[in-house]
Amino acid sequence: MRRRALGKTGLEVSELGFGCASWWGKPRFPEREALGLVHEAIDRGVTLFDTGASYSAGEAEPRLGRALKGRDVSSLVIATKAGTFHAGGGRIGRDMRPAAVVASAERSLERLGLETLGLLQLHGPSVEELDAAMLRTLEDLKARGVARAVGLNSFDPAVIEHAVGLPQIDVVMVDYNVLRPERRPLVARAAAAGKGVLAGMPLAMGHTRPLLARLKGPQDLWYAARGLARHRGELARGRAFRFLHDLPDMTGSQVALAYVLDDPGVSAAVFGATRPAHLRENLAASGMMLSQALRDRIRAAQEADG
Ligand SMILES: NC(=O)c1ccc[n+]([C@@H]2O[C@H](COP(=O)([O-])OP(=O)(O)OC[C@H]3O[C@@H](n4cnc5c(N)ncnc54)[C@H](OP(=O)(O)O)[C@@H]3O)[C@@H](O)[C@H]2O)c1
Repeated sequence: MRRRALGKTGLEVSELGFGCASWWGKPRFPEREALGLVHEAIDRGVTLFDTGASYSAGEAEPRLGRALKGRDVSSLVIATKAGTFHAGGGRIGRDMRPAAVVASAERSLERLGLETLGLLQLHGPSVEELDAAMLRTLEDLKARGVARAVGLNSFDPAVIEHAVGLPQIDVVMVDYNVLRPERRPLVARAAAAGKGVLAGMPLAMGHTRPLLARLKGPQDLWYAARGLARHRGELARGRAFRFLHDLPDMTGSQVALAYVLDDPGVSAAVFGATRPAHLRENLAASGMMLSQALRDRIRAAQEADG
């Protein structure tokens, strides 16, 4: 597994990170399988794990904590998020006040069973919320050793653009995948400013494959329902990229990951998976290169997509 610098944080991360979110964190997904995926990822060289206080209705963090119990975490970067929380009944609450962010980070340490977080990210802040008080709070959390690095996760380009200009922000997590080539200049500016850049959703949530072809288990129904409810645009745009799944030497997921990692501005791509075969296939993408012909084909599909 190749590693990359996480911006100017002094931390190094595996270029593929494992996302501990969504179906992975849900009690309906058996604990033994969920923990097995984390253990196998560590054994195969993954050092970056990404989760959030609100993920999987609040169940993802404590589950990741149980997975890490008894493991040597000194070389791992455990990333989590603050500013959102599970509000009951499947709803996600939001509290981006500095005091709530501090309390959330401290709770995360307990749930994860860690002495320090590798990375604390604000989960979807607005530009206005990134005010002097918040930036001081993030600096304090680092000074107190609660987190080694701080940053934010946003899918709003205006927020990322603003964060690129803030010296207190170490890392940004953006939605970057074959369906989102428009993020490339923003990623380049973030990297040039010394930010670590994490690509979330690098597989475009699987939406480059036909929905029906994916329905093999309960997790697929859950991901399909989420796609239909919240990501119809991606589902539609994914059609132009079906060819990624018919290539001779690489699977579609490997192409999707290699596409993101082809960008030198990216520190790591963080994917989600609940099947061990998917995990292995994805980790094998580290070091795979896209041919120029394939890059051109992807660019042509992106241009046709508009
Ligand atoms: N989605 C968001 O809104 C969001 C927001 C912020 C941060 N993030 C971060 O980004 C991470 C990844 O996001 P995500 O899980 O939403 O999307 P993703 O990684 O783009 O896609 C996950 C989907 O792809 C499938 N998959 C994985 N490997 C595959 C393979 N080799 N072949 C076929 N299908 C494969 C998974 O299926 P199986 O489960 O069957 O393996 C799952 O349905 C999250 O875990 C989180 O850390 C996501």
